[in-house]
Amino acid sequence: MVTRHSFLIPAFDLYSSSKLHTLPFMRKSLVLILSLFVAVFIFSKCINNAKASTDPRGNIYAGAASCRQCHQAVYDSFIGTGHFNSTAAAGKKNIHGSFENGHNEFHYTDGSMVKMEASDSGFYQAEYKDGKKLGAYRFDIIFGGKNAQTYAYLANKRMYELPVSHYNSINGWATSPGYLGNTPFFKRPLIAGCFECHTSYIRTNTNMTPNEISEEYVEGTLIHGIDCERCHGPAQNHVNYHEAYPEEKNAKYILKNLSLSRQQKTDACAVCHSGNDRVMMASRFNFKMGDTLENMYIPFANAKKGEPDVHGNQFGLLSKSRCYLQSSTMTCNTCHSPHSDAVKSPAIYSQKCLACHSEATHNFCPKAATMGESIKNNCIDCHMPLQPSGAIMYQVAGKEDMTAYMLRNHRIAVYGTPDK
Ligand code: HEC
Ligand code: HEC
Ligand code: HEC
Ligand code: HEC
Ligand code: HEC
Ligand code: HEC
Ligand code: HEC
Repeated sequence: MVTRHSFLIPAFDLYSSSKLHTLPFMRKSLVLILSLFVAVFIFSKCINNAKASTDPRGNIYAGAASCRQCHQAVYDSFIGTGHFNSTAAAGKKNIHGSFENGHNEFHYTDGSMVKMEASDSGFYQAEYKDGKKLGAYRFDIIFGGKNAQTYAYLANKRMYELPVSHYNSINGWATSPGYLGNTPFFKRPLIAGCFECHTSYIRTNTNMTPNEISEEYVEGTLIHGIDCERCHGPAQNHVNYHEAYPEEKNAKYILKNLSLSRQQKTDACAVCHSGNDRVMMASRFNFKMGDTLENMYIPFANAKKGEPDVHGNQFGLLSKSRCYLQSSTMTCNTCHSPHSDAVKSPAIYSQKCLACHSEATHNFCPKAATMGESIKNNCIDCHMPLQPSGAIMYQVAGKEDMTAYMLRNHRIAVYGTPDK
């Protein structure tokens, strides 16, 4: 570890040295030579001490593991979140669905079947027709897990989505979102967009021929999950600085959240939470905390008209709420902590509502008159109801209709009383 002594104090000593003052004719050149020497000395020290990582994003990124030594509480909480585990290499522990006989088959209406099979070389979705095995595709990458999981396999440097996904709400296998239950399909390309919102980085090959619809991915460049620097930006200099000056308690070489405007704060979340229906001018990987998201879209090419979908567009919905429009302070972090998952307790969210709405401030719910104190346990089922996504639907074996995927509507408003 470098200390102030090893490379800064010598420089000050030389400039204030009395010897230099007694030799005025030599002063200029001596100072020049000495400062050159010092510069080279400092430079070589910096090179030696400035740790550079081998992060695929470049050596200005340090990687999440390096944050733990100084931010242990944040780190330990964060590694359990949906963000950090948004993608992962597939393995026995993290595939949620069952591989046991009787629970590992998905039957299509054309007589085909996809069977989840485990072997020494990995986990597979195998395609069968009339009892004959036609092929098997490996679970390589897992997307998600909080509500649903979908899987990718790699073939010829390209990524494809497997036809069967796992849904917690039915505790079982069903078609991947948007796939029909009539016949299995293994060729849906998994485009870079999925990675831009679900991972910290992957590099694509730009030499794409026009008849290819999916990108070629560069081996060894994938950083699974959403890591610290995906939100906070590159932090190798921050790490180097604080390792060199452990007594410094003021954060250096890292953006301070407090210095951001509300728009910048929400944009840091909205880059992945404002839907996917506007044309981007650059990869979402280029977005850094502090940037303005609006500048990344092609101007004038507006998003689809109508109500934003409850899936993936929390910002679009929240920003239509009077709570957001008529307060200057509401951000995603009013209700969420960036280093933990969404809490499941309606009462905790209600406390957030009560911070702005109360009888005392005369903007409380008229229902309080009939509901009494109990109203304080759950504002959200009435004002942020669970609703089906129009973008994500799937088919359960043997069911004709598509099954809905339910999410919270982030447009805080007056809805009908929930029917339950
Ligand atoms: C050698 C110690 C050290 C390491 C390693 C380190 N930090 Fe820090 N960090 C600090 C100190 C000291 C502060 C200032 C006190 C505080 O806020 O905890 C800080 C503050 C921060 C802040 C708050 C900035 C603000 O004021 O809003 C962020 C964000 C941050 N660090 C991110 C990271 C990330 C990401 C990593 C890993 C890539 C990392 N740090 C690694 C020492 C470190
Ligand atoms: C790089 C893209 C990205 C950024 C930036 C991002 N998110 Fe997310 N967020 C996701 C994805 C993808 C998921 C789904 C993760 C999963 O379960 O696979 C998610 C999930 C969540 C969840 C649900 C977690 C749970 O309990 O299941 C919350 C809450 C959330 N994000 C809030 C935020 C907030 C607040 C910010 C800004 C501080 C933010 N996100 C920034 C991509 C992002
Ligand atoms: C614009 C950003 C964005 C893009 C692009 C995107 N997602 Fe997501 N995805 C999210 C967010 C945010 C969530 C979590 C909250 C929600 O569903 O609204 C999510 C949720 C998921 C989930 C459920 C996660 C869980 O833990 O329950 C899966 C699976 C998933 N996405 C897979 C994909 C795949 C595969 C693609 C590409 C075809 C893709 N996503 C493209 C942002 C995105
Ligand atoms: C989803 C985006 C996101 C991710 C991922 C993320 N952070 Fe943060 N972090 C934030 C935001 C937003 C704040 C400001 C919170 C606030 O002011 O309430 C913050 C605040 C901080 C702070 C200062 C306040 C505190 O809680 O101590 C530190 C330190 C920090 N983050 C470190 C990390 C480290 C280390 C990781 C990875 C282990 C990480 N962050 C991952 C968004 C993120
Ligand atoms: C940061 C402060 C703030 C928070 C937190 C907040 N609101 Fe609001 N809300 C407002 C403001 C400001 C308005 C508009 C003027 C008013 O009614 O005071 C508003 C308006 C509303 C309205 C009327 C909506 C309409 O379309 O007419 C409802 C309902 C509401 N809030 C419910 C909630 C609920 C439920 C929560 C918690 C999930 C919540 N608010 C959290 C500030 C907030
Ligand atoms: C007024 C409070 C409030 C604010 C502000 C808020 N959320 Fe939420 N969020 C909730 C509630 C309540 C849930 C549902 C938690 C549950 O029951 O599981 C939720 C859940 C989520 C989920 C999980 C998916 C789902 O629908 O259950 C994501 C992702 C999410 N929020 C992202 C965001 C983002 C991004 C922002 C900022 C644009 C944001 N939230 C702002 C209250 C809020
Ligand atoms: C049983 C459903 C239900 C619950 C629970 C509920 N509300 Fe309401 N709320 C309504 C309805 C319906 C209205 C529309 C006014 C009416 O019909 O009386 C409303 C109106 C409001 C308004 C708008 C008042 C105005 O004058 O524009 C606010 C603010 C509000 N609620 C906040 C809350 C908060 C905060 C909570 C939790 C402490 C809450 N509500 C709990 C159903 C509910």
